[in-house]
Amino acid sequence: MTPRKIIIDTDPGQDDAVAILLALASPEEIEVLGITCVAGNVPLELTARNARIVCELAGRSDMPVFAGCDRPLGRALVTAEHVHGKTGLDGPSLPEPTMALAEGHAVDFIIATLRQHPPGSVTLCPLGPLTNIATALQRAPDIAERIAEIVLMGGGYFEGGNITPAAEFNIYVDPQAADAVFRCGAPLVVMPLDVTHKALVTKPRNDAFRALDTPVGLAVAQMTDFFERFDKEKYGSEGAPLHDPCVTAYLISPDLFSGRHINVEIETTSELTMGMTVADWWRVTDRAPNATFVGDIDADGFFDLLTRRLARL
Ligand code: RIB
Ligand code: CA
Repeated sequence: MTPRKIIIDTDPGQDDAVAILLALASPEEIEVLGITCVAGNVPLELTARNARIVCELAGRSDMPVFAGCDRPLGRALVTAEHVHGKTGLDGPSLPEPTMALAEGHAVDFIIATLRQHPPGSVTLCPLGPLTNIATALQRAPDIAERIAEIVLMGGGYFEGGNITPAAEFNIYVDPQAADAVFRCGAPLVVMPLDVTHKALVTKPRNDAFRALDTPVGLAVAQMTDFFERFDKEKYGSEGAPLHDPCVTAYLISPDLFSGRHINVEIETTSELTMGMTVADWWRVTDRAPNATFVGDIDADGFFDLLTRRLARL
């Protein structure tokens, strides 16, 4: 099986970190061409720092990490230190990165990579606000038909929102960017809160990370210990939802997930519902389907895969 070539676009973020580690631990299925950073959970300077910390934790200081957009297309940046801590990667005590950022802007890397590789051979995996992806599409509309698939974490329907009653954070931060991506015509697979809220890091699952008895296993357990406090208090849940690793797990084992190919559009007008993913789950409109909207997961299978793969690092 030829590994799928991907670009991870990310705003680490503890859950982004786990998603990146899972990708780097799975070379049979995934070849990471580069990591592009965007402002989101924390400002760009920190997301670009954190992505390099994670690459070095995985022993991959060779991975090209690019800094991208430092603010949304048309709105002020909203960050989530209340969830991820002031560094965005609170929990473990990890060394500052020694690897440098790659030369050039993330958006230029996305455009150049899609143009250099055969059409349909590169998958984009956004794990944060969609500012970099939308900016690339605006600057180079020709890349839309070259994208194999966009597999992203964002949105919510039955679960509503997590930053407003209507909107999930990644979409809310840059709704104009999300609108451009959802309209671009590339095949979309969306991992919304509807599925990520079923991927909860319960204590036995976090204990399994710690029991790996490796620097990666310990770091992931400590990230989750930090990250979960907010969600457990807010939702009264058994643990933190591992949002972003659903994206990379899908690339490895799509059968762990199920969803529907439906129309999904983004609210960009009303402040009350700004950034809402209006998912036509019941197909009550004649709007053309544009996304596979994932609603369910084999959570035990997901955590078994994740733990086994993290053990490799
Ligand atoms: O709403 C959850 C999403 O927002 C995740 O990607 C998390 O990392 C934050 O970016
Ligand atoms: Ca993220």
